[in-house]
Amino acid sequence: MRIIYCDSVFDNKIIEPDYEKEKEAAINAGFSFSLISFEELIDGKITRSLRFVKEAENTEFGMYRGWMLTPNQYEKLYNGLLKKNIELVNSPIEYTHCHYLPNSYAKIVSKTPKSNWTKELTTESILKLTKAFGDNSIIVKDFVKSEKHHWETACFIPNASNSENVLAVVNKFIELRGESLNEGLVFRQFEELEYLTEYSKSGMPLTKEFRIFFANKEVVKVFNYWDEGVYGAEKPALEEFIAIAQAIDSNFFTMDVAKKKNGEWIIMELGDGQVAGLPDNADKNEFYTHLKEKTSLKTGS
Ligand SMILES: Nc1ncnc2c1ncn2[C@@H]1O[C@H](COP(=O)(O)OP(=O)(O)O)[C@@H](O)[C@H]1O
Ligand SMILES: [Mg+2]
Repeated sequence: MRIIYCDSVFDNKIIEPDYEKEKEAAINAGFSFSLISFEELIDGKITRSLRFVKEAENTEFGMYRGWMLTPNQYEKLYNGLLKKNIELVNSPIEYTHCHYLPNSYAKIVSKTPKSNWTKELTTESILKLTKAFGDNSIIVKDFVKSEKHHWETACFIPNASNSENVLAVVNKFIELRGESLNEGLVFRQFEELEYLTEYSKSGMPLTKEFRIFFANKEVVKVFNYWDEGVYGAEKPALEEFIAIAQAIDSNFFTMDVAKKKNGEWIIMELGDGQVAGLPDNADKNEFYTHLKEKTSLKTGS
């Protein structure tokens, strides 16, 4: 299995510094790696982006670990690597399954906040969707990301029936996302989560959340999602989440889970494992060692 990282921009032979420690851990665990140029990939210059990726003699599995890609960019990366005999662990469809919340919503519906979505950014469709939540609190995000660090102004809507406030928050969200807006809008019922602390960087409320990495449907590692706050020794019970993971159409993904104030654990969101960050607190050697175990079983590489 080859891990594909992004280069440092200034030097195509040097890894992006944010992934240096991951790369060392990957090598320690027995993976090989190649570097691509992220900038050239998103510019559509795929051949140039992959010019330092050595072609595999026999088909080899690959895993990208880097910045988020749109499904279109991911598909270009996937096909470019295939030409070099490297097959990324997730097909473009599998990537999009966890990347876009609406694509996997049906698979997690029993354990995740009630949600609806639209690609139409009109007042009419926004109010139609938000009315479905009555006077409950909701949050807004796009198909991939929220503006959680602008919690009060562009994420949290205290009362979904207050049209004026709904439009003010949603418009601020659209403005902040700008060109980066992914596909459309998602509205989600707000759930009271167990409070951890206030985030020092933005003042948003941090709640008890964990990030579970799954490879080949098995748990690789459970991380505290935040690097701040006192988590205590408590961890989520994994059985139910492992059962749900079996139906997710992806070979490498994350499941972020949170604890409600009433003690119930819910799924916040899924993500493709290739573009999901490891928390700063993560033991990278342990992560890559487990990843090697879980991926060697199926791929033999
Ligand atoms: N429905 C919800 N109920 C309560 N808190 C939520 C809800 N949705 C999001 N949050 C809070 O906002 C944070 C960001 O939401 P998330 O969907 O993970 O967006 P992002 O993709 O930007 O990380 C979550 O980690 C959680 O703390
Ligand atoms: Mg998140």
